[in-house]
Amino acid sequence: MTVMITGGAGYIGSHCCVTFLEAGFDLVVVDTFENSSRESLRRVAEICGRSVAIETVDVRDQTGLERILRQYDCTSVVHFAGLKVVGESIDLPLDYYDVNVVGTYRLVSAMRACGVHTLIFSSSANVYGEPVSLPLDETHRTAPMSPYGRTKLIVETMLQDVAASDPAWRIAALRYFNPVGAHESGLIGESPLIVPTNLMPIICQTASGQRPSLSVFGTDYDTPDGTGIRDYIHVVDLVEGHLAAHRHLAAAPDGPNCLTFNLGTGEGYSVLEMIRAFERASNRTIAYESAERRPGDVAVSFADTGLAERTLRWTAARGLDAMCRDTWNWVCKNPTGYRA
Ligand code: NAD
Ligand code: WQD
Repeated sequence: MTVMITGGAGYIGSHCCVTFLEAGFDLVVVDTFENSSRESLRRVAEICGRSVAIETVDVRDQTGLERILRQYDCTSVVHFAGLKVVGESIDLPLDYYDVNVVGTYRLVSAMRACGVHTLIFSSSANVYGEPVSLPLDETHRTAPMSPYGRTKLIVETMLQDVAASDPAWRIAALRYFNPVGAHESGLIGESPLIVPTNLMPIICQTASGQRPSLSVFGTDYDTPDGTGIRDYIHVVDLVEGHLAAHRHLAAAPDGPNCLTFNLGTGEGYSVLEMIRAFERASNRTIAYESAERRPGDVAVSFADTGLAERTLRWTAARGLDAMCRDTWNWVCKNPTGYRA
């Protein structure tokens, strides 16, 4: 069985390649490498002793996707390719609608043309917007506060309509909370070509001396220490959630054919707790200063993980110390990421 992995050279996609190769699947990665490098896939092969096929094709290229689906006899698709920076999506909304919405539309059209009906889609907890109740379960109302989040919600809606149109479809939309960490080998990890805005890469840059300090965005939230709380999930747990979803779609052919799951741990940690945990893992002091709240940030976000636990029989196993330890191991072994 060959699985097409779009965006498979990226941060989450490369970890997914390892987990799916280890589970015995053959893989073809479709990526433009605009936010990744081929080196990640070379390292995937080093970890697994087996390589993936690589196709440099844009997800908006329906003809190219159809050629690949047929050539490799693909039976399912895991769709990571997309743009993911919330702030950038406010400045460049059309780019986000083009890659995230049009790209998924073309992918699903190519799949239909080739008779491939099993799809796992990378969605985001960003679709919830400001929480009305916590923890966030999948029935919580959706009200994304950025173009990025809206592209994810539009795709989820499109996929529900597509699934309703034909029972052959088997679709899972996975709403990730805050992925962090790296493979325990230290061979693959997060190495974006874009300037990072997420907390964990900025903590890493501060711990490794690439920046003098980090700004803590908001110290006056209604939380125990005043800083924002998020549900950080180890990237290897996250991709194991994809494998569980893939197995579930294959094993339950008569159940609902479009499912939505949160992928988180159900635990929330504040910015200051993250800094302290990383200091323990790295044995370094991380300088920080208080700063204004970042526009668009919510105070607290963490998942209700019950549906994924019950339905997929999956739960995140790695705790905060493992997340920080594996991130630091990756950074120490690759101070410039995949760049030589
Ligand atoms: P990433 O940028 O590391 O990976 C995305 C990959 O897609 C990259 O390899 C990039 O080169 C590729 N790509 C971009 N545009 C493409 C196109 N038009 N055609 C083909 N390939 C293209 O990002 P990631 O963190 O691995 O995220 C993967 C997915 O998960 C994204 O859809 C993102 O929105 C979603 N997600 C990420 C997070 C997070 O915090 N990292 C959280 C929630 C959801
Ligand atoms: C986490 C916490 C910040 C940077 C975003 C997307 C979400 C998903 C993950 C894609 C917040 C604080 C951050 C800094 C800080 N991505 N922070 N100083 O905003 O929860 O989620 O990335 O889908 O959809 O919305 O993640 O890592 O940016 O922030 O104090 O320099 O760290 O205010 O409380 P966020 P983050």
